[in-house]
Amino acid sequence: MKKLIGLKKIKTAVFISGRGSNLKNLIKFANKKKFPISINLVISSNKNAKGLKFAKKNKIEKKTINFANLRKAENKILYLLSKKKINFICLAGFMKVLSANFIQKFNGKIVNIHPSLLPKYKGLNTHKRAMENNEKFSGCTVHYVTSKLDSGKIIMQKVVKITKNDTIKSLEKKILKKEYILYPLAIKKILINL
Ligand code: GAR
Repeated sequence: MKKLIGLKKIKTAVFISGRGSNLKNLIKFANKKKFPISINLVISSNKNAKGLKFAKKNKIEKKTINFANLRKAENKILYLLSKKKINFICLAGFMKVLSANFIQKFNGKIVNIHPSLLPKYKGLNTHKRAMENNEKFSGCTVHYVTSKLDSGKIIMQKVVKITKNDTIKSLEKKILKKEYILYPLAIKKILINL
């Protein structure tokens, strides 16, 4: 996507499904003057997502979408995105797979954070699988979203060491801390002309 020149923020929607700690972190960064995005819409696939409270607290418009029918859900989202003039989408713990048709409409403008060193461990239960395979390292990846799950071009990664004392929980925690650094960095990398 075209790099941003000057300080005009790109209107962004964040898609979540649960806890929303990456959303909370992105809101913190978006509130900084020089960060290239503003968060203007939060979409949740789950009405009970804890992360929705961060939208409320920050007075960001939020909408829960029922994904029982994917086409209907995506049409509704596309309507909301165009109404809010959204030009960039960050998936943050969003657990639904978007259709090729939807992704094509925002081609090159949807990014995702994934808790593994892609292309390793696409999909779910990444920490458990990395540990079962006795990996010495894991980490997180920010990548462009394409219609193939967790397979789009990699923007940036951060590595963590897996020690023999690690559990799935401790590894998740370590990686999450890196995610909070990586996601804002990756957004800056692709959107700011440095
Ligand atoms: C994060 O670890 C994120 O990388 C992962 O879900 C967690 C969401 O946490 N995403 C995926 O697994 C996507 N395939 P959060 O709701 O607290 O941001």
